[in-house]
Amino acid sequence: MKTIGILATLAFLVTAPAALAQTSAAPSEGQAATASPGSLDGKSLFRAKTCVACHGRDGAKAIQNYPDLAGQDAKYMLAQMAGIADGSRVSGPDARGYPRTQGMKDVMHLTSTEERAAIAEFLASQPAAKPRPLDPAPDSARLAAGKDAYLKSGCGTCHGPDGSKPLASYPQIAGQKRDYVALQMTEIRDGVRKGGKVATMLPFAKKLDDAKIALIADYLSQVERGPK
Ligand code: HEC
Ligand code: HEC
Repeated sequence: MKTIGILATLAFLVTAPAALAQTSAAPSEGQAATASPGSLDGKSLFRAKTCVACHGRDGAKAIQNYPDLAGQDAKYMLAQMAGIADGSRVSGPDARGYPRTQGMKDVMHLTSTEERAAIAEFLASQPAAKPRPLDPAPDSARLAAGKDAYLKSGCGTCHGPDGSKPLASYPQIAGQKRDYVALQMTEIRDGVRKGGKVATMLPFAKKLDDAKIALIADYLSQVERGPK
């Protein structure tokens, strides 16, 4: 039953945004150019443009292995939206064999650049989600080993000593969902995720084996991100 439920959800995710995309009027380039970003309500747009269906309430309750966006860096998010929309960022396949980025790619033409910027500003201003409990829960020795591996692998140089103080326009990775973090490390290492500034991280990611990725992901997912 569980499998059927997940498949039904996936079917909805893949088909619903596509169907919506066909029936909704996309903003024309002209409209986008005249929109005033300052007057746009990022919170309403986040809800209206289907983002909420996958990334959850205020970006802090994402479904499946999808990323939480609350408290993420605004410039980083804007760049990723563009990359997913134009296909320069793709991902590995979901349970149905589609890239996990596909459902989002299908809806991104519904938003202008100004609207995306307003959504990114709104999300960046939201408190990050609390760390999600893992099953089985890692003990303190494993978390300490994860932190050690994170620091010895050089990750702190760009993402900060605990993943929560990244360089400007680099992503927050502390407190992000474990499975998402592990997937991104793996897909950056394997060259599946390209585009953006991925190349700067590649030499570091290439040194990670799967066990170390799992160890670091367990650790990062349990770091509680304080207020900015
Ligand atoms: C059908 C589901 C779906 C919808 C709708 C969707 N997204 Fe996404 N989004 C995803 C998935 C899945 C990923 C991560 C892809 C991966 O695993 O590589 C993602 C990634 C992102 C990222 C990059 C996060 C990171 O940490 O790199 C941003 C920013 C984002 N989405 C914003 C939005 C916004 C804004 C909207 C609405 C305009 C939206 N998404 C609509 C599924 C969706
Ligand atoms: C030289 C700088 C640098 C180093 C060192 C580095 N990263 Fe990154 N990392 C980045 C950049 C830049 C991105 C965003 C890439 C993009 O623009 O798409 C990123 C993305 C990520 C992501 C995906 C974030 C998301 O929301 O999708 C994770 C997870 C991550 N890094 C973990 C690590 C870990 C773990 C290490 C250590 C092994 C590490 N990084 C080392 C620069 C770095």
